[in-house]
Amino acid sequence: MRSAIALAALAILGSSASSAKRPPDGQDIALRHHAPWQVQIYSNFKDWTPEELKTWQPWERAHHCGGSLIADNWVLTAAHCVNQQQVARDYRVRLGTENISDGTGITYRIDRIVQHPQYDPDLHLNDIELVHFVADDQTKREHAVRPISTIRLYGSKASDKPIGLGEPVTVVGWGQVDEQQKEHYSPILMVGDMPTVACKGPPSNKAWLCAGEAGTDACKGDSGGPLILTYGEPVLVGIVSWGKGCGRRGEPGYYVRVDRYRNWITRAMAESRSAKAGN
Ligand code: ARG
Repeated sequence: MRSAIALAALAILGSSASSAKRPPDGQDIALRHHAPWQVQIYSNFKDWTPEELKTWQPWERAHHCGGSLIADNWVLTAAHCVNQQQVARDYRVRLGTENISDGTGITYRIDRIVQHPQYDPDLHLNDIELVHFVADDQTKREHAVRPISTIRLYGSKASDKPIGLGEPVTVVGWGQVDEQQKEHYSPILMVGDMPTVACKGPPSNKAWLCAGEAGTDACKGDSGGPLILTYGEPVLVGIVSWGKGCGRRGEPGYYVRVDRYRNWITRAMAESRSAKAGN
């Protein structure tokens, strides 16, 4: 993420020191509870060559995407994050930590995914996917150093109106902090506060939400992760999907509007569960 601030720093300094967009002390901010829904999706591959490890550390090689815990054992992410081959190659999720470089966090094996049937990688349409995870012998509860809980989907309350322009939103992730810094991710979870803005079109799409301003944006490695409302109760409004470069002037970040997919999400989880039970 470009021009973001570390969540850990936020906790120490309190809301007033982090950025002008934060509410004054005492007001509810959605990240007060350290993003307990935040998920890392990573590859469990370990056989890096010494040559490969010269430029990137193993944790950085392994990092793949973000995601949000939305129900027991279910993560919502972007469709471009995990495909069927990667499920077979033992991709995992990590929860319960803000640090992806020190081995903390409880990890689970991804056993199946439900990719949106109309996902179009070329046009970035319906870039949404459900990831299901299960415990295995590498799942160590004691490694979780932060609480874990689900996040509510925007649109699940009658008062959730479609998000308009100029609304304060916050993106959360371990992605690159600079477009130039090829493949260097942040070991510590970062947040970036931005307004929602108009998407650049045509062609545009009603299921996209755009956000960002020069200098604050999601970037590579943030994909699949959450965009939440900055204020009030934590609620998931978007999924990091795509953008041109990172933090460029006049180039917003594109997010999947979660409220547009609530029916698909509910149905896909139910169908996947019953298909599993019928096996
Ligand atoms: N597709 C990217 C990823 O795989 C996320 C891109 C978001 N880019 C942006 N400028 N908002 O991590």
